[in-house]
Amino acid sequence: MIRKITLSAIAALGLAAVPALAAETGEGHIEDHAFSFEGPFGTYETFELQRGLQIYTEVCAGCHGLRYVPIRTLGDEGGPHLPEDQVRAYAAFYEVEDAETGEFRTAEPNDHFPMSALENAPDLSLMAKARAAFHGPYGTGISQFFRGIGGPEYIRAILTSYTGEEREQAGTIFYENTAFPGGWIAMPPPLIEEGVTYEDGTTASVEQQAEDVAAFLMWAAEPKLNARKETGFVAVLFLILLGVLLYLTNKRIWMPIKKKGIHPAE
Ligand code: HEC
Repeated sequence: MIRKITLSAIAALGLAAVPALAAETGEGHIEDHAFSFEGPFGTYETFELQRGLQIYTEVCAGCHGLRYVPIRTLGDEGGPHLPEDQVRAYAAFYEVEDAETGEFRTAEPNDHFPMSALENAPDLSLMAKARAAFHGPYGTGISQFFRGIGGPEYIRAILTSYTGEEREQAGTIFYENTAFPGGWIAMPPPLIEEGVTYEDGTTASVEQQAEDVAAFLMWAAEPKLNARKETGFVAVLFLILLGVLLYLTNKRIWMPIKKKGIHPAE
């Protein structure tokens, strides 16, 4: 019986590893990148998120939407942390469909970002969690804990892996991209060197823009990451303290008995 279970467990593990391996070789090439928010103590950097928001607004929003993200969260601590008046002014950039009247009106902070403007451009709200760059045989819980599953790496890689080749197929132009599964993507290269001007003086190289917008999209997909890690840290500290106290209590309770050399079994 035990042998049977062990064998089926090994078979299951083996089977699980095979498609993952195939996926790794069949998919595009994605490099790991040390984002500020990775690892047990990593947090979002406010300025990076603000730069990412700028890229999203000036470049990506022309085609992509962020329909699950409420605009007001741009003011949240742990996020881009914009002052209230800026959030209000930002919302006024967009037109949204009113849920009650069905008519278009200027957005307010309580509205969500609009949906994708271009039909075949996917919504980016959850993209950083929907795509994984590293799963497969080495995707143990521990390495994901330290490096994440690679969603932001995937986005960063897509934006920086165009080769410049293009080809037309059935009326659509595809661009060669070494990070995209299959190698050809319908999205034209969105970023150009110094395509935006950062207010904080950061040089807007394509790599920098890709990293910033990837960080921003990770925040969009997981806005409470900072708070979650803080809570986790406090919980771990508490458990360590509790462990020590229980150990000492246990010692103390049994001390008189141990001293006398009385063993309960005798
Ligand atoms: C001109 C329109 C356009 C712009 C601008 C644009 N995209 Fe796209 N994007 C697309 C289209 C179309 C697709 C679908 C491509 C496909 O499936 O081949 C896409 C797909 C994607 C994907 C998904 C790839 C996947 O795994 O399915 C990501 C991520 C992405 N875009 C990110 C961005 C980011 C970030 C920006 C801003 C820096 C941006 N895009 C700007 C049109 C655009």
